[in-house]
Amino acid sequence: MRVQAKTIPSALSALVGHSVDSIDTPTLVVDLDAANRNMQRMAEFTARRGLRLRPHGKMHKSAMFARLQLQAGAIGLCTQTVGEAEALAAGGINDVFISNEIVSPSKLHRVAALAHQLKARGGQLALAVDSAEGVARLAQAMHLTNAAIDVFVEVDIGQGRCGVKPRQPAVDLVKQVSEHAPSLRYAGLHAYHGGAQHLRSPEERHTAMARAAELVQATCELLRTEGLEPPLVTGAGTGTFMEEAASGVWNEIQPGSFLFMDADYLQNQRGAGQIQFESALFVKSQIISASARHVVCDAGHKSHAIDSGLPLVWSPTGQPQWTFANGGDEHGILHAVKPGGPLPSLGDTVWLIPGHCDPTVNLHDYIVVVHGGLLDGKVQAIVPVDARGV
Ligand SMILES: Cc1ncc(COP(=O)(O)O)c(C=O)c1O
Repeated sequence: MRVQAKTIPSALSALVGHSVDSIDTPTLVVDLDAANRNMQRMAEFTARRGLRLRPHGKMHKSAMFARLQLQAGAIGLCTQTVGEAEALAAGGINDVFISNEIVSPSKLHRVAALAHQLKARGGQLALAVDSAEGVARLAQAMHLTNAAIDVFVEVDIGQGRCGVKPRQPAVDLVKQVSEHAPSLRYAGLHAYHGGAQHLRSPEERHTAMARAAELVQATCELLRTEGLEPPLVTGAGTGTFMEEAASGVWNEIQPGSFLFMDADYLQNQRGAGQIQFESALFVKSQIISASARHVVCDAGHKSHAIDSGLPLVWSPTGQPQWTFANGGDEHGILHAVKPGGPLPSLGDTVWLIPGHCDPTVNLHDYIVVVHGGLLDGKVQAIVPVDARGV
């Protein structure tokens, strides 16, 4: 399904310039100051290390946040679906890597058309492949439109999801890609380890990524002996990007969650010197029912994804006051952390930090962006989730 540009409803656009109190509930809110600080920290890190930063757009699915990332120093964006790539391109993003396998002829036709469109305005499209059949199908689609595309061979470095095996199988696939030049341009290796991102201790993440780096390094060495040195090695997420950077094997990183963060990532223990990112994504919610032992807010799992756990209830002091229990589709049940401790009152606002940012954003058509903080800030903008559902 292709993406239609979204028209912001007047009730939402009327909020711009007004205080956070005027935001109705439940609503997805981004603290822009926190998101900007997160972006700045990541951009400074990659600049210091001489790494290319290509943040993952599957997280925010929004051209506005993609533009903000480019202004801060990113060289392009990743997406996971063709629809996300089309939405970002429609919002002015010229350099997009679909870091995923696409094999259906209809979607490959859209890939080819998008590659053509981006090329015509000085940009480029890239795609991941992990099979000879996938390469052949992509080549056929590109041939029909007379366009060219950058191709990354995805290597499975431990997640056991997509990706060809490291070493010789990867070399064989690179050769197959190279046979289809110039319409397929061999761009390098895509080596991402999703399973390592949420390993809780720094030691576990280090062990997983040290093994992954060995596999990528060995593959690169084989490729070099064949005269097929990868122009780029891309990968990494918010949990491990400092490992990839330290390995010297990757020269491009593609983290996504760092911009907004979520309750799951907050549970990762930070290692020495590891960059801290702040919570920037919240569901604004209101207490709609109160009793002596618990209160109920108006945000359930229609407002936030629960695949990675329930939300945290934000506290301005940083000390959690209330816990969130699942109340179903439209409700959350709050208890005091300290037995007998004070609870919010009927009508009060509570701010939830969702368990998992990507699928939470995908539940909403718009994000209300706030500047000046959650307590005293003002609505700065309404941002459409351009690629919601695609
Ligand atoms: C291929 C790929 N790269 C990068 C990322 C970004 O990871 P994170 O959002 O954990 O930073 C993801 C997330 O799932 C991904 O699938």
